[in-house]
Amino acid sequence: MKKFDILALGELNVDLLLNRIAGFPEVGKEIFAQDMTLTLGSSTAIFAANAATLGARVSFVGMIGKDSFGEVVRSTLEQRHVDTSNLIEVDNAATGLTAILNYDNDRANVTYPGAMSLMGVKDIRPEIIREAKHVHVSSIFLQETLHKEIFEIVRMVKDCGATLSMDVQFDPEEKWEFDYRKILPLVDVFMPNEQELMAITRKATVEEAVDVILPYANVTVVKMGTRGSLVISGGKRFHMPAMLNKSVVDAIGAGDSFDAGFISAYVRGKDLAECQRLGNLAGAVNTTAAGGTGAFSSIEAVKEAAQRYFGQTIEL
Ligand SMILES: Nc1ncnc2c1ncn2[C@@H]1O[C@H](COP(=O)(O)OP(=O)(O)OP(=O)(O)O)[C@@H](O)[C@H]1O
Ligand SMILES: [Mg+2]
Repeated sequence: MKKFDILALGELNVDLLLNRIAGFPEVGKEIFAQDMTLTLGSSTAIFAANAATLGARVSFVGMIGKDSFGEVVRSTLEQRHVDTSNLIEVDNAATGLTAILNYDNDRANVTYPGAMSLMGVKDIRPEIIREAKHVHVSSIFLQETLHKEIFEIVRMVKDCGATLSMDVQFDPEEKWEFDYRKILPLVDVFMPNEQELMAITRKATVEEAVDVILPYANVTVVKMGTRGSLVISGGKRFHMPAMLNKSVVDAIGAGDSFDAGFISAYVRGKDLAECQRLGNLAGAVNTTAAGGTGAFSSIEAVKEAAQRYFGQTIEL
């Protein structure tokens, strides 16, 4: 019996949201924002928090600075019942921060990666991996050292006997350097969205991109927004339409919630069709409240939203 069902391995940062801003900022000038919020950012944190709400025992390996933003990260994860004993505090970098300037439906983001860019293979202790059934790695392009050492990291996870899922997420530099031939054979569940999959394979359609990775991948799950998801396993493709939400609050974190739904079913040994259903359902539930974790305040709230908006039940 392992101590944790899931170890989330990824970036940690706070989000500083500035809303209702009087126009676009200009160099040399100062303007007012009417509204400000500081929250836990990071898509891996949304994944971890929502998987914990769905009943998985989740721990987090990620880097923060020895500063008050690091405390915000730690205490917010704890409120969400994510184990923080494996967070790594460094004194040579500050906790990462994303400043988000919201203008109606559009936004401008600036990210200072800070501590998250330092975590590499030497920081990840095999004893910790051995305590987990499953490891989920995410946002690989946002984490400079982790990106460079990703092959060594996935090999170490497999050597420690855990199953492994990976969500690459966006590459802010848009270089999309990812050696899928070498890495994917070691990944049990690969979970990109369609743009990310096309970008890493340098193909113009999802179909072609899937053909390219097919010889190397185990299970692949492609997230397709309002068109649902595609699971590819044993050479077969299974498309499941989205459980459409007609009055979306916002879709921030829908992909991370999808991962949380899919992987919480996966670690319980559910078949792939049920994992995919729970992935789509968690992604859909995510859109019924603000931000990535708003709809996941408790398992009762998730079950209630699943039933009310989508007529779906959750049994875990
Ligand atoms: N408007 C919506 N209504 C219902 N379900 C949705 C909606 N948008 C997304 N989903 C569900 O959530 C899943 C993941 O969303 P999406 O494809 O946007 O992931 P992503 O691009 O990785 O997102 P993220 O920006 O969070 O990383 C989809 O596969 C779908 O099942
Ligand atoms: Mg995503």
